[in-house]
Formats: sequence, C-alpha cells, structure tokens
Amino acid sequence: MHDLSDIAHWLESHQTHHESSVNETLPDPTFITGGESVVSFSTNNYLALANHPRLVAAAKSGLDRYGVGNCESRLLGGDLEVYRELERRLGALKHKSDAVLFVTGYMTNIGVLSSLVKAGTLARLHGYRAKKRHKYAYYSDEYNHISIREGIQMSGAERHNYRHCDMNHLESLLKAADGTTPIIVSDGVFSMEGTIAPLPDLVALAEKFGAILYIDDAHATGILGEHGGGTSEHFNCYSPNIMQMGTLSKALGSIGGFVAVDREIADVIRLTSSAYGFTCPPPPDQAAALIAALDLLVEEPERRQRLWDNQRYFIEKMQPLGYQIISTATPIVPVLIGDAEQCRLHARELRKEGVHVDAVQFPAAPLGQARLRFMMNAGHTHAQIDHVVSVMGRLAGRI
Ligand SMILES: Cc1ncc(COP(=O)(O)O)c(C=O)c1O
Repeated sequence: MHDLSDIAHWLESHQTHHESSVNETLPDPTFITGGESVVSFSTNNYLALANHPRLVAAAKSGLDRYGVGNCESRLLGGDLEVYRELERRLGALKHKSDAVLFVTGYMTNIGVLSSLVKAGTLARLHGYRAKKRHKYAYYSDEYNHISIREGIQMSGAERHNYRHCDMNHLESLLKAADGTTPIIVSDGVFSMEGTIAPLPDLVALAEKFGAILYIDDAHATGILGEHGGGTSEHFNCYSPNIMQMGTLSKALGSIGGFVAVDREIADVIRLTSSAYGFTCPPPPDQAAALIAALDLLVEEPERRQRLWDNQRYFIEKMQPLGYQIISTATPIVPVLIGDAEQCRLHARELRKEGVHVDAVQFPAAPLGQARLRFMMNAGHTHAQIDHVVSVMGRLAGRI
C-alpha cells in the first residue's frame, strides 16, 4: 500500500488527474455545483435527453413494473421483452437485423473484442467442427478508445496499430498479413479529436482483404446522419462486413452499450461473450427510457438540428480568436492549447466565469497537445455560446 499512497501524493502534486467537482445536479447542459449554476461545454448528453420528461416517465413506469434492478444474467432468469424490443430498435437504427445489449459501452468493447476471436474455440469445446479454422489479427486506429485497446489486449490475438485515419498505413499492414483473418477496429467519431473515421475507405479495405470491420459509434449514434443513425448514415455507406457498436450513455441519455449485427452473429456473441452472459444488463427501467429516446430521435429531429446549429455558431465565433481548432467535423470541437498547465489554467479561468470545459491532457491526448474539449449541446443558447467565446477571447491575450 505504501507505493500506492506515494503514487497518490505524486499525482496530487503533479495534478495529472482530472480536476472535477462533486455536483448537485447533472448537466442538461446547465448544472448546479456548490449552489452555483454552471454551463457545461463538455457533457456527453448531446441532445439533452437525459432528463427529458418522456424518458423520465418511461423509466418511472419501468420502475413500477420491474423494480430497480435486474439481478440476473439474461442467459439465466434475467431476460425481458423490454430488452428484446430495445435490441430490435437498435438493430433497425443501424440497418442490421439484431443487436446485443451490454451494461455499458465500455463492457461492449471489452466483451465483444475479447471474445470474437475465441468463439470458434469455445464452440469446438462443445463439439463444433469448423470447415476452416480462422486465426484472427486486430488492426486498430492508434486513437481508438481505451476500451477497444483493452478488449483487443484481452483477446490475446495478434494486434497492430495504424496511424490515426491513415489508410495507406493500414493497407501496408494488411498487405503484410499472412494467413490471418483481419478485424479492423475504428471509432466512428474520435472522442478526443472530433474527427470522423473515413468509413468508405475502411469498407473498401475490409472488402479487399476479407476483413471484419468493427466501428465504435459512441459519439456518432443519435448525432451523425439525418436520422441519427451514425457514421454509416453520415456517409450513406453500409456493408454486411460492419459490426456497429454504440453506447446508450451519450446522445441517448441513459446507460448501456450495444453491438448491432446480423441475427446469427448476435447469437454467437450472446453465447460466447462473458460480458453478456456472466453479468447483468442495464436495469429494465433504463431499457424502457431508451426506447423512449429512440422514439424522440424520430419525433424531435429539431434537437439534432439545434446541436449542429450550435456547433456551427460556436466555430464561426471562435475562428477570429486565433486558436487552433483541431477538428470542425462533429459536435466535439477540441481547441489546442499545447501545454498541460496552460490548458488547466484556461479551464480554471472558464470555471470562474460559470463555464465547465474538460482540460484533456496526456495520456488522453498526445504529450504536448493538451486541449480544451468543447462538446456542443442541443440545449446551449446562443447567449451561452457568446459568453464562452468572449471569455476565450479575453484569455487569448492574457495566458
Ligand atoms: C469512443 C468511446 N467508446 C466507448 C466508450 C464507453 O462508453 P460508456 O460510457 O457507455 O461505457 C466511450 C466513452 O467515453 C467512448 O468515448
């Protein structure tokens, strides 16, 4: 334990941890902390659905019907029609015949990526005889979410990282593969960069090299595409080779993760992924709330329009200030500060003015590329955006 307390002191004095507070309410995008009202420019609650009355009402009736928790694996006594309906709806959103629900997005990546390559081995233990034995190898974008990297590591399969969105690099690695079946893994929207993966190029490479393509649409589901279908809808690019992963804890306002695939693949995942079979799903009231969230994606498209309008408004106002904006492609608009201490200083000054923005630093961002990760929200007003831009304008000259 001594070493751990030394580490805690070191982290404290070097402030390498996130500076965060304990709050009284959650961002909608405004929240209360220490009795004060603060506007968040870094919440995943993109469409301000988390406290929408329809989601709250659906969760309340779910609570009345099912109670507060599930307490069972769905492979044992814990399956319910409400989960099946949610899975059908998520599959349809992603143009797939089914989806598999997990307790979080993190567990989805860990659960699917660690087990995919072992499905054949597990089935063989039960007597299955394959026509051909596949040896899989992972190809992963260097900026993929940590849950992807950990899931791939847990699989024990051969793994290669390619440079961020660099299709030439990916192709050269795929060409060097010998006799393995490639699984290419990429975020759809990169959470610290705000960039969109070049999906049509990834699909073309997957087809050329006979690869499975796994897309993590955590920050694209509900946001990209006319109906919020995500990266595939954004590019109008669909392929049977794509496994569509997403989370339910961001634009959809609740908790959970899923992978949308064709039905027979879904059944393989249900039977071979420990993160599905050896743990519980999200509580049933949240599944009911999520069905209401999916209804609202269709019924209230103006939320998505407001989100994008706010994104454009913010970028237009920020551009004359001279900051380097890392990407303008999505509602994640990271502003490069460079030095980590300077970045934290910016965040602290913004906080004094009633604005919360995450200061993202190493290891979440490359060393020397600390950034303020602005995340735009359907609930921001233009006045709130004007305010944050005017504070950034003052800081531009001073820090
Ligand atoms: C790209 C990406 N994938 C997966 C996750 C994990 O999702 P969840 O919060 O639902 O566990 C996140 C969350 O930050 C993410 O940004």
